[in-house]
Amino acid sequence: MNHLLSMKKIQIEGFSDEHWTPIVKGIDLTLDKGEVLGLIGESGAGKSTLGLAAMGFNRQGCRIVSGSIVFDDIELTKAPKKELRELRGSRIAYVAQSAAASFNPAHRLIKQYAETPVQHGLMNLSEAVEKGIDIYRRLLLPDPEKIGYRYPHQISGGQLQRAMVAMAMSCQPDIIVFDEPTTALDVTTQIEVLAAIKEITRQFDTAAIYITHDLAVVAQLADRIMVLRYGELVEEGNTRELLANPKEEYTRQLLSVRTLRGDKEQLAKNKAVILEVKDVSASYVNGIKVLKNISLKIRRRKTVAVVGESGSGKRA
Ligand SMILES: Nc1ncnc2c1ncn2[C@@H]1O[C@H](COP(=O)(O)OP(=O)(O)OP(=O)(O)O)[C@@H](O)[C@H]1O
Ligand SMILES: [Mg+2]
Repeated sequence: MNHLLSMKKIQIEGFSDEHWTPIVKGIDLTLDKGEVLGLIGESGAGKSTLGLAAMGFNRQGCRIVSGSIVFDDIELTKAPKKELRELRGSRIAYVAQSAAASFNPAHRLIKQYAETPVQHGLMNLSEAVEKGIDIYRRLLLPDPEKIGYRYPHQISGGQLQRAMVAMAMSCQPDIIVFDEPTTALDVTTQIEVLAAIKEITRQFDTAAIYITHDLAVVAQLADRIMVLRYGELVEEGNTRELLANPKEEYTRQLLSVRTLRGDKEQLAKNKAVILEVKDVSASYVNGIKVLKNISLKIRRRKTVAVVGESGSGKRA
């Protein structure tokens, strides 16, 4: 069976310091209908470059030197610009790290949502709006009937990121490239947005390339993982197998960052409490409570992480 997307021996170069240097060095990548492929690796590994190439796109200052990219029997490296423009957004969509940078601040969300499906002649404006509300609802955005009439700055970061996912879904594409779509969010919001992405791609059987640094994220989402480093493939495999039995030292290192554990004896020695906060409450002059009965112990040589979503009172 043909793959939905098949990239072969992709080589991409970038122009810096007056000459072209390789960024992606001959990578093969396939994606089947409904499949979620996780691309992981350190910063600069070439993940975004490869993800953009999956749409036949390269950033300014980069060029695809050789290799083939076949999507639904269309060779994207040779396709005319017009055909690529038609594909992008409608059959292959892209969700970037910062939705704030991707929205036009001057237009209402629903207007921006409806633009692509209407432009591609898939539906008229009122159909697009109706569909948008349905997608907002599936993504668990509050007040889905009305939220689209707000401007981008009138909703929270996590909501904006979900509105961006909605926009990517607007033409029911075959593939969405998610390029670290939750990196800019706090932990609880990340979890919500991830769950929304997981659910909606499953509902529409959308294939996805999911780019991230975070192994916990790919573990939840991806069927298969490719580990990249310096523009090369380190290893590739089924998510569960790769996480349980990484073959390459580099993958083991990536995994070990997550599983660092303290030495138990050392922990016992350092148990002495050096700061204790008991039942502290605090409020602003205007009476708004920011802390309610918080207690905290800090032990010698231990780092205590204070975690919470935006506005939860961490700094107080
Ligand atoms: N327009 C460009 N011109 C020249 N070099 C570039 C260009 N864009 C990216 N590069 C280089 O290509 C390499 C890969 O970049 P890429 O953005 O694909 O990495 P990444 O794996 O997505 O990293 P991150 O996790 O930081 O987003 C980097 O070394 C980068 O400096
Ligand atoms: Mg990137």
